[in-house]
This record gives sequence, C-alpha cells and structure tokens, in this order.
Amino acid sequence: MPSLVALPGTSDLLPEETARWQAVDAAARAILARYDYREIRTPIIESAEVFLRSLGDATEIVQKQMYLFTDRGGRQVALRPEGTASAVRAYLEHGLDKTAGLVKWYYVGPMFRAERPQKGRQRQFHQLGVEVFGSASPLQDAEVIALLMHLLEVLGVKGAALKLNNLGCRQDRAARVEALTAFFSQHVGDLCEDCQQRLRVNPLRILDCKQEKCQRIVAKDRTPDTGLCADCLAHWQAVLAALDALNIRYERDVRLVRGLDYYTRTAFEVVHPGLGAQDALGGGGRYDDLVQQMGGPSVPAIGFALGLERVLMAMDHEGVPAEPVRPPDVCIAALGEAAQIKGLVVRQDLRRAGVACAGELDPRPLKRQLEAASKLGCPLVLLLGDDELAKEVVTIRDMQTRSQAQVPQAGCVNEVVRRLKTVNS
Ligand code: HAM
Repeated sequence: MPSLVALPGTSDLLPEETARWQAVDAAARAILARYDYREIRTPIIESAEVFLRSLGDATEIVQKQMYLFTDRGGRQVALRPEGTASAVRAYLEHGLDKTAGLVKWYYVGPMFRAERPQKGRQRQFHQLGVEVFGSASPLQDAEVIALLMHLLEVLGVKGAALKLNNLGCRQDRAARVEALTAFFSQHVGDLCEDCQQRLRVNPLRILDCKQEKCQRIVAKDRTPDTGLCADCLAHWQAVLAALDALNIRYERDVRLVRGLDYYTRTAFEVVHPGLGAQDALGGGGRYDDLVQQMGGPSVPAIGFALGLERVLMAMDHEGVPAEPVRPPDVCIAALGEAAQIKGLVVRQDLRRAGVACAGELDPRPLKRQLEAASKLGCPLVLLLGDDELAKEVVTIRDMQTRSQAQVPQAGCVNEVVRRLKTVNS
C-alpha cells in the first residue's frame, strides 16, 4: 500500500465508474428539465452559520458531523453537509424572495459529514437535490415526490419504497414534543447517552435513534402521533389524495422524523432493500419556516436529496448493466520522427472533425502500437511511416476485417468520417 492514500470515507472514482456516474447525471438532468428545474451551483464551503442556523442544534450533523475550520481570515467555515441551507442562503442573497415567484432548483455535488464510514456511508458523498421555493400547495408536495420516484424509475431502481409522514406545523410539533418529553422522561435511564441529551433538546430525534435499547423504548411509545391542526390535516389529506391520483404507492411511517430539524408537514424517505443498514436512497420534505428562520420572509418550500452512491448501489443490486466505456474511434500508429509529427497534425484534424482519436506520442515499435490499438477496441487504425510520408498517403486499417487501404493524406479525415458512419450505423 503506498503511503499516500485517500482519507477514510472518501474514495476515487476511476474511469470505469465515472462512465456510470455520467450516465446517471445525464439521465437525471433530462428528467429534471422536463419538470422545469434549473441547476444551481453553490460553493462547497460556506460560513458555518449557514448550517448552524438551519439544521437544528440537536441534529447529529451539527453535534458531531460538520467539518468546521477557521480560515485564514478568522472566519468559521464549514464544508457543506447538505444542500438545502446553501440553497436558502443563495435564494435570499440574490433577492429571489422579492423578484421571483416559483423557484425550482436542482443541484448535484459532493457533501461532507464526518460519520463513521461503512457500506453506503461516506464522509464525502454526493447528492442530487431539488428545492422548490414559493409553493404551499399540497400538489407541489405530490409533484416533488412524483419527480423523485420518476428519477429512480428512469435509473432502473424499481424496488424503492416510499415512506411518508406529516410532522405538522411548528405548533403541532410543539405539542408532539411535549407528549414525547413526558413519555421518554419515564424511561430516561434506559436511553443511550445521546438520546438522554436529545430528550432535553429535541425528543423527536429519539424516534430516529438506531440504538437497539432506544428502539425498544420507542416501540412502547403510545403518545398520539396524529395531533395535527385542521390546516395540516387538510394539507396531509390533499397530499395523499394527489399521490393516489398519481398512482404512487406509499407507506405511512409515524416514526419518520428525518435527521434534520427544519421540516414541517410532509416528510418522506425512499428506502431500498438492497442497501443494508444504510437503506435510505434519499429523503426530503417541506420546510415552510426555514427561509424565515434564515432571515428572510415567510416562504413555503419543499425539496429532497438523493444519495448518489446509494442510488448506484441500488442500480447494481437491480442488475442495471454497467455503462460501457466507449472506445476511441481511431488510433494513430506512427513510426519515425517525421511520421509522428504528421500523426500529431492528423490527430488534431480528426478531432476537429468530431472524431475521438487515441494513440501514444512516445516512439514505440509498430507491433506494440497495434496491440495497444486493439486493446483499446477502436474500429480503425491509421498507419503512418516512411512509405506513407513519401507517397503522401495514410494507411487505414479496419480492425474488424483486418483489411487495409491507402488514402491520400489530404482526404483522410473525410474518409475516416465516412467509414465511421458505416461502423456506427
Ligand atoms: P438527508 O436525509 O440528510 O437529507 O440526505 C439525503 C440522502 O443523502 C440520504 O438519504 C442518503 O442517501 C444520502 N446521504 C446522507 N448522508 C450520507 C453519507 N454519509 N454517505 C452516503 N450517503 C449519504 C438532506 O440532506 C436534505 N438536505 C434533503 C432535502 C432537500 N430536504 C429538503 N430538501
């Protein structure tokens, strides 16, 4: 093992893997365009305040997982652990609350959480997220969920299950927190250390704890989970009716609270049985108070993020074939200094004409160059040596039929383009 290796929880993606990432990216972008979402790109580093003011003091992310540092200017900086807070910051910074009506954004990129690495859990991972600002309609909730399911369907992930909950508005939450506080206080001694603290800061988080001893107590919880006010209840019923109309299947999960505190009303997660312990492919929900909480006016909002590593794992599990790495169209094999220079010129001419062109620039025996071309799998090889230079021709070898023909150098680009059309048709 070399002495310099990637940090725990981070990994390299080599070309065999990036081909698949690019395919997922392209397929997702095509779907997002159909739903009229536009891409935003926000910085990977943000003022720590962006996350500290939004995600919730009792969340695992804020308590334990943020990569925080002081930059050279003495600012408290964080590597972004998620995209929603950055999106809200950008929405307000650019005054979109004043000028734009409905804003529909998506983003794709790395996020950072200092978690204990395990299968499906990295310290640097990638999310594809969407955020919609300016709609309070329950139909918007349903359409955002429909988009999530459509994305998974297009990527070939069929076995994902949708879990839904309604967390209510701030007042509903307060009532639920009160009931849970009373309940968990009776069992405080049996809770894990983290949950004992959660009991003080946000007992809803206890419902989410993965520790077995806490789950045993959670199972005994009989506090009412449906204490929704009339407005939240009407919203909830309208979301469910819209999902029914769209034929989207879901399961109500009253324990679903999500790992972030900004959610109001609809919260959802998609899980996949092929992922093991970390089975959430993605999740999201409404966050109608967050824009205000971050210093803006009251703007209803909703979104979700998919964890792309997990989506790829689920695709593997479903047997979606790996993306083939496309070989170059042509390989140039040149022998001798003058032929190599000519080869360099021809390569550029071919590339300008749209042809993907490979071949080494270091002097190598012809046999080795042909072997390399064959290994790459390109359909055509152009041979250039003293003979070709003297006659001002190029030899084109068809790697499939092994037939060779000499064509004038001046017309070789057109000839290659013509032949590739037949190869690719
Ligand atoms: P989240 O549930 O924290 O939500 O993350 C969304 C997804 O990111 C998870 O379901 C999972 O697939 C993936 N993920 C999270 N942490 C890791 C990790 N350490 N390693 C691998 N994958 C991970 C959010 O981040 C919200 N911002 C989603 C949202 C958008 N809500 C509203 N808008």
